[in-house]
Amino acid sequence: MPFYVRQGELPRVKHTAFRKADGSLYREEMVSTRGFSGAYTTRYRLNVPSGAVRQRELAVPRPEPWPEAPVLWSHFKTFELAQEGDFVGARAVFLSNESCSIATARVTRNSETLFRNACASELVFVHRGQGVMESEFGALPFDVGDQLVIPRATTYRLHFDSLADVRLLILESRSPFELPAHYRNQAGQLDEGAPFCERDLRHPVLQPPRDERGEFPVLVKHGDRLFEHVLPSHPFDVAGWDGYLFPWTLDIKAFHPKVGRIHLPPPVHAVLRTEALVVCDFVPRPYDFHPDAVPAPYYHSNVDSDEVLYYAGGEFMSRKGVVEGSMTLHPAGMPHGPQPGRVEASIGAAGTQEYAVMIDTFAPLRPTLNVKRTLDAAYAQSWLG
Ligand SMILES: [Fe+2]
Repeated sequence: MPFYVRQGELPRVKHTAFRKADGSLYREEMVSTRGFSGAYTTRYRLNVPSGAVRQRELAVPRPEPWPEAPVLWSHFKTFELAQEGDFVGARAVFLSNESCSIATARVTRNSETLFRNACASELVFVHRGQGVMESEFGALPFDVGDQLVIPRATTYRLHFDSLADVRLLILESRSPFELPAHYRNQAGQLDEGAPFCERDLRHPVLQPPRDERGEFPVLVKHGDRLFEHVLPSHPFDVAGWDGYLFPWTLDIKAFHPKVGRIHLPPPVHAVLRTEALVVCDFVPRPYDFHPDAVPAPYYHSNVDSDEVLYYAGGEFMSRKGVVEGSMTLHPAGMPHGPQPGRVEASIGAAGTQEYAVMIDTFAPLRPTLNVKRTLDAAYAQSWLG
């Protein structure tokens, strides 16, 4: 997505006969976005990618709406929810709207499950844990802080080196994740003012194609429904691919923060956007350097978006009472800002060690019962002093 990558064996000319050593044809497959007008990749497979030996729908728990949830400043401690399962089954949705869903996962087991999200691109923030993402595009190792961007319809699995302490934040989006336009020059390259550059983005390395026939189950997620498609050949049979559409990752620790003489607004923290939301990274940084600067943010009403913050580490500059795994929701049109004492405490302070991921959605989010289950009921009163 951010740049062109080419791996493995490719024919010199697209859409021409490309033969294996035995004379049979590779199967060309194009994966495209926005019809045929957006980013795309062309893959060359050993076997035909279409068709299933059989399929069935799996009975899986669906997000439980909380329709009478108050529209209020909310704080919920996601770590307090009992969670278990593999990287698919452990997902617990806290917030959603028609464009996205925001879930966490405490992964407690590895599985051989292959997974394909047919309707949503995914951003997986690895809060805790390390391992490898295996996909049709190859192997992509990840570690604490990685933000895996997984295009819709990628067939993949996450394997963790240890299951002692794995915590993920998973954002599913119906429209693709893209780099913010204000970081890119006319050529599409990340410009000198961007907080990260192409060198910071890591992509999968293609592995030898698996020429295996048999029965290969793939879990296919379609909205809130989950199907098992049993494929007749292993989907990791790609001998080569090239294009702009592939999984990639950016370590939040590689994000170079911007600091101003006075407080800079959230767009300087932006890392990704879709048609319906913006994602920002908050990372350790020195504070603003005007002698009288107030580093804590001013109170603000984000009238066009719901603001979600996921707290990943360090003490967050403007909030008290939040812990690792906390999530706050500040609905659109409701003024929010530092709690009593935080503005004063920030003046003259040297910097912050916070790590947090912010998701601003342009349409209102609906809480699920997981919010109710982990709610800090006193949060709305925390500004009263
Ligand atoms: Fe805010």
